[in-house]
Amino acid sequence: MSYAEVYAAWKADPEAFWMDAARAIDWDRAPKKALTDKGDDLYAWFADGLVNTCWNAVDRHVEAGRGEQTAIIHDSPVTHTRREISYVELRNRVATLAGALRAKGVEKGDRVIIYMPMIPEALEAMLACARLGAIHSVVFGGFAANELAVRIDDAKPKAIIAASCGIEPGRIVHYKPLLDGAIEQATHKPDFCVIFQREAEVAHLTEGRDVNWHGFQYGVEPAECVPVEGDHPAYILYTSGTTGAPKGVVRPTGGHLVALNWTMKNIYNVDPGEVFWAASDVGWVVGHSYICYAPLIHGNTTIVFEGKPVGTPDPGTFWRVISEHKVRSFFTAPTAFRAVKREDPTGEFIAKYDLSHLRAIYLAGERADPDTIEWTQDKTGKPVYDHWWQTETGWTIAGNPVGIEAMPVKIGSPTVAMPGYDIRILAEDGSEKPDGELGAIAVKLPLPPGTLPTLWNAEERFRKSYLTTFPGYYETGDAGMKDADGYLWIMARTDDVINVAGHRLSTGGMEEVLASHPDVAECAVVGVKDELKGQLPMGFVCLTKGVNRPAAEVEAECVKLVRDRIGPVAAFKLCKVVDRLPKTRSGKILRRSMAAIADGEEVKVPATIDDPAILDEIREGVSAMGYPRG
Ligand code: COA
Ligand code: AMP
Repeated sequence: MSYAEVYAAWKADPEAFWMDAARAIDWDRAPKKALTDKGDDLYAWFADGLVNTCWNAVDRHVEAGRGEQTAIIHDSPVTHTRREISYVELRNRVATLAGALRAKGVEKGDRVIIYMPMIPEALEAMLACARLGAIHSVVFGGFAANELAVRIDDAKPKAIIAASCGIEPGRIVHYKPLLDGAIEQATHKPDFCVIFQREAEVAHLTEGRDVNWHGFQYGVEPAECVPVEGDHPAYILYTSGTTGAPKGVVRPTGGHLVALNWTMKNIYNVDPGEVFWAASDVGWVVGHSYICYAPLIHGNTTIVFEGKPVGTPDPGTFWRVISEHKVRSFFTAPTAFRAVKREDPTGEFIAKYDLSHLRAIYLAGERADPDTIEWTQDKTGKPVYDHWWQTETGWTIAGNPVGIEAMPVKIGSPTVAMPGYDIRILAEDGSEKPDGELGAIAVKLPLPPGTLPTLWNAEERFRKSYLTTFPGYYETGDAGMKDADGYLWIMARTDDVINVAGHRLSTGGMEEVLASHPDVAECAVVGVKDELKGQLPMGFVCLTKGVNRPAAEVEAECVKLVRDRIGPVAAFKLCKVVDRLPKTRSGKILRRSMAAIADGEEVKVPATIDDPAILDEIREGVSAMGYPRG
């Protein structure tokens, strides 16, 4: 069947399409129907089925005789180690870990926060939760204690599983003090913490609260897989919204299994037994879906890579991993290739490795600029497929369904809508825009299986964030257009979310931090273009009347404050004290005009501007920071 036929078949009968896809999953009780319309724009998938994610990702492959196949390869240039874990080993390790968690009181529905670097134990912790029907929430290691505390208070975990440390090139990330600080700050306290001690740093355990990863598993009864309802939450993943309070995206169990399994062949074009690699981090959605769950559910070998595209030790690392482990499909963010290209523009390192097993490269997480796609395609000789998705959806909204039919690539477009997504381009009044015209990108409800049914404990916020602007549609927060061939073009966010090195960040969240500085009266943070990371945050602050301190001092404090409160991942290093912020007469800060100045673009000055002269001061501030860049 062609892509057009598959998409049409889904559209004609979505229920039959997803029930058919659901047959690839092992159910404890098969669902009788796919979609449940709960009314009021809320939906559930496979709600009457009973299923276990860990069974589908691990045990069933052992039962099917695949136990000796490698499930996880840990390739860690930062610790100079390599390790392989077979499916049967993984099953045994996860069953014991789950048994130990159960012995300490963790049950179906309990939340467990996981704060770990790129080690197989992070996946084991996720799978152990899934085995019990406990709901995990993985927090990215680059976030500061405060961000962890916010998540602890929202998810109210019974347990936290953490590692003693993470390893960034040139420094050890001390997880334990961050964890202790977060628990101290949080109102909710977990019953206990499990600490995985790494060789690079052994952390001090808090008596009565912390247990050692190995010690607490000693002699416990391994746990069996606990079947859960199809719409039981599998996990919560916090993501940036318009304010500092992150949104707890809920992932439903049944739809997640069905949809992810479907994508492995149809989008990533791999068969069970083949090696699949997503170079991301378990703290992000790409890591949840494509380092942990999808490859394992589909019976592939997944790679947990603890390193960077460059500097660990050189820009040939990606190609080494691909060649040594015979990777078939490789997935990363465009920023990673921009980093590689900067250090190895002629592709010298690529030529050193045998990439004959690699079929294709997939990019997502941020806009893929044509230069990067063309360079990667040119130098590797492999097709490069951009695809567009979000934490909220957990899998591709628009992509190239190469397992069905490789659609001609149009560089700059993530290609076409996947089955399950009825994508529309809408004007502000909700009417549909003609092909070729820019508008808000929305998806007609219901969203397909695996996508968020709600936000954790925040149904009103869910409605307000996604459902109210365009009744009957899910608002993606992205703007773009469709062309006459049905190809999608993603142009920009419609909110103040920015994308820094493929990491989604909220400028509103950074403004909240800056505003808490005692000498800051007002502030604005905008996303400016960056050649390597795509975007970088740039802050402007106005001092409180009467404060007469050197501007540079306050600027340095502001930079430190954001790093301490949000974390190094915010990459907030550009900050300038200015006298005033440009505003409209009604007091709205003109963030777009400020970003345009920093990007060296034509600045459209709104007629409603309060005082155009203020833009000149912004220009001076921007120029003092070295912007716009050549
Ligand atoms: N734990 C602690 N700190 C972390 C971290 C983690 N897991 N991940 C990143 N950080 C830190 C970095 O050390 C850096 O700190 P610094 O300011 O002291 O240098 C900061 O957070 C910013 O990190 P990042 O923006 O990721 O940049 P980087 O310096 O680590 O380099 C590139 C990353 C430029 C090489 C980039 O190409 C890249 O690969 N980014 C990651 C892409 C990715 O995986 N995106 C996920 C979506 S698919
Ligand atoms: P995240 O939830 O972190 O995956 O970020 C999702 C956002 O990243 C999307 O809403 C887009 O703004 C952006 N994004 C992700 N993939 C792409 C892509 N292929 N092209 C353009 N933007 C993308």
